[in-house]
Amino acid sequence: MLEKINRLKAEIEALTAADAAEVEALRIKYLSKKGLVSQLFNDFRELPADSKRQLGAELNMLKNFATEKINSLRESIETNDTECDGIDLTRTPSPMRLGTRHPLSLVREEIIDIFHRLGFTVAEGPEIEDDWHVFSSLNFAADHPARDMQDTFFIQRSPDVLLRTHTSSVQTRTMENTQPPIRIICPGRVYRNEAISARAHCFFHQVEALYVDENVSFADLKQTLLYFAREMFGSETQIRLRPSYFPFTEPSAEMDISCNLCGGKGCSFCKHTGWVEILGCGMVDPNVLDACGIDSKRYNGFALGMGVERITNLKYQVKDLRMFSENDIRFLDEFTAAH
Ligand code: DAH
Repeated sequence: MLEKINRLKAEIEALTAADAAEVEALRIKYLSKKGLVSQLFNDFRELPADSKRQLGAELNMLKNFATEKINSLRESIETNDTECDGIDLTRTPSPMRLGTRHPLSLVREEIIDIFHRLGFTVAEGPEIEDDWHVFSSLNFAADHPARDMQDTFFIQRSPDVLLRTHTSSVQTRTMENTQPPIRIICPGRVYRNEAISARAHCFFHQVEALYVDENVSFADLKQTLLYFAREMFGSETQIRLRPSYFPFTEPSAEMDISCNLCGGKGCSFCKHTGWVEILGCGMVDPNVLDACGIDSKRYNGFALGMGVERITNLKYQVKDLRMFSENDIRFLDEFTAAH
């Protein structure tokens, strides 16, 4: 009898179960009325009285042991079930798709970085503006065509509320609130009333730079432009300045860089001239300084403004402006390597 008890104990100790149904089968096999442990109790009854004492205790211990073992098997299966909630934690996860930064953001950040190295800090202003900050303070004549509804989105007339057509409005806002030295870079979105096509859009992005201090010269402007062009497009890049006109600068210029596709030899991209235009610039018109409360007899400055789409096109040869705002994953994925 004792031998039987020990054998059964060893057998029960080694039991395992994969799910609740298996545990139940084990319970029936060992602990039900006709189970193996109960059968031993039946045999026990037939024993002579003198062996009953010792064996009775052994038998009770076996029953308790079997009950505990089966309960613990049941418990471990139940806790497993709730913790994992049917999820196989050993499976390899499916690869997660990471997003990419928008090419315009990449280029805007690069422009800002270059100007940061020259000591310029970022300034921002509102996209919904008034006439003063977008036009009047910047020396636009009363009959300037940009003030026309054909070019500008007006939200309201007299007093005029409009979507800014350029980031030069941030120049004015900064000069109104700060005395020189001023060295700011103003990135932002601008709006113009244009029909949308591959080459024009009703909104786009600009970065403006403004430097106002004592004794700022055109040579400072030119060197800043050269530094920017070489950092942005490579150390071989050449620049040239052509005289131009903007109401808020005098003298004004437009800057071309040597075509970065053909290296200046001439190709269809630069219309076989070897040069591509990238920005407008000039010395801040004294009228603008005065309008913003800065003494134009003591201070002068330079300003420049460029289109982020234009720079991006030059860097990455994006042929159609509309790609920038269509959120086409195939287009955006092309810039993964540019990070
Ligand atoms: N605001 C001009 C535009 O939208 C760009 C520009 C030209 C900005 C010359 C300037 C500048 O600061 O000096 O076309």
